[in-house]
Amino acid sequence: MKPTFADRINDVPRSFLREILKVAISDDVISFAGGLPNRALFPAEAVRAAASAVLGDDAGSALQYGSLEGYAPLREWIAARYRRRGVDVDAADVLVTTGSQQGLDLLGKVLLNEGDAVAIEQPGYLGAIQAFSIYRPQFAGVPLTENGADAGALQSVLESRRPRLFYTVPTFQNPSGVSYDEACRREVAEVIGASNTWLIEDDPYHELRFSGAPATSFASLAPEHTVMLGSFSKIVAPSLRVGWLVARGELMDKLVVAKQATDLHTSEVTQRIVLRYLADNDLDAHIELIRERYGAQCRAMLDALARHFPADCRYTEPQGGMFLWLTLDGVSSMALFDRAIEHGVAFVPGLPFYTGAPEENTLRLNFSCADIDTIDTGIARLAESLRALAA
Ligand SMILES: Cc1ncc(COP(=O)(O)O)c(C=O)c1O
Repeated sequence: MKPTFADRINDVPRSFLREILKVAISDDVISFAGGLPNRALFPAEAVRAAASAVLGDDAGSALQYGSLEGYAPLREWIAARYRRRGVDVDAADVLVTTGSQQGLDLLGKVLLNEGDAVAIEQPGYLGAIQAFSIYRPQFAGVPLTENGADAGALQSVLESRRPRLFYTVPTFQNPSGVSYDEACRREVAEVIGASNTWLIEDDPYHELRFSGAPATSFASLAPEHTVMLGSFSKIVAPSLRVGWLVARGELMDKLVVAKQATDLHTSEVTQRIVLRYLADNDLDAHIELIRERYGAQCRAMLDALARHFPADCRYTEPQGGMFLWLTLDGVSSMALFDRAIEHGVAFVPGLPFYTGAPEENTLRLNFSCADIDTIDTGIARLAESLRALAA
């Protein structure tokens, strides 16, 4: 007899993205499929110096078990950064997590019973779909427009499905690059405020704005309902695995219990390295470098799309982040994917980002990793694949 597995893991689909990324890793293929920050911008020297200082100054404390909620001065730093942009956060509201991905898992543990409804944008962040799927919910899709979630559709979902939570990436969304405008945020906050549904505001790209003006956080618009997630992955480096969530009261108490059961605490030594890096360096100047680079690459991609693609293709024009979203006219992006690989370019088809009926003519393009010339060549190849598919 063969040992077996829990239903909860058998039901979670294997990451489609991993399969795609395998095909895309070849010297001949220009990849817009990944979702990684640009490695050339990691502050490697400064992190090395911070690590050396942390292990030199008080190595005993850095290597000892740490506090369950996170390293206190780092929690204070995170809270102060929110206050700087007008969001009322106290250090006690911050739980440091092992990447913001762990925050999603902890929220699943604390909020979801099997069969509960989870409202999520269509398209939505794949990592959240996967993290919540472990808890066996029923997803209820909320369509995304170019200005943010469709608040009327959200209201219908809240009334008909009574979801435990609505998960949103309202700023430079992964995968679409869409940001909720101010009016949309207010409408969404209003319908959420009239419900008993939590709103999870996952905001790892917030600081990567290269045009336009910031909009109000849901934490200010619907404070009783909102849980915020954040991360150092996109502004310092992802391998540190330091993220956080912001929650209050009873919810925080329960998240702390879940965190303790999961991993006791996030690595103390890396939290101290992050804080030391933040103390000894100008983070704003570093973020400015990232913004300039991603902004130039995004503009190059938009220019190339305007030059090489037929006029009936539509695409989002992000004001920040790492992704844009292309909608083809009556063409399946899965079929295009095979042609694109033959032509030496990769992207992620839209299909896996939907929990309901997919819009199969959509795809995600990443612009954070390729330089401007490569972006132009890659988009020209993609347009060529589209013509080859139509022929
Ligand atoms: C919307 C969103 N949330 C969470 C994450 C996970 O980030 P972290 O590295 O902090 O776990 C990502 C990573 O790409 C993301 O795009």
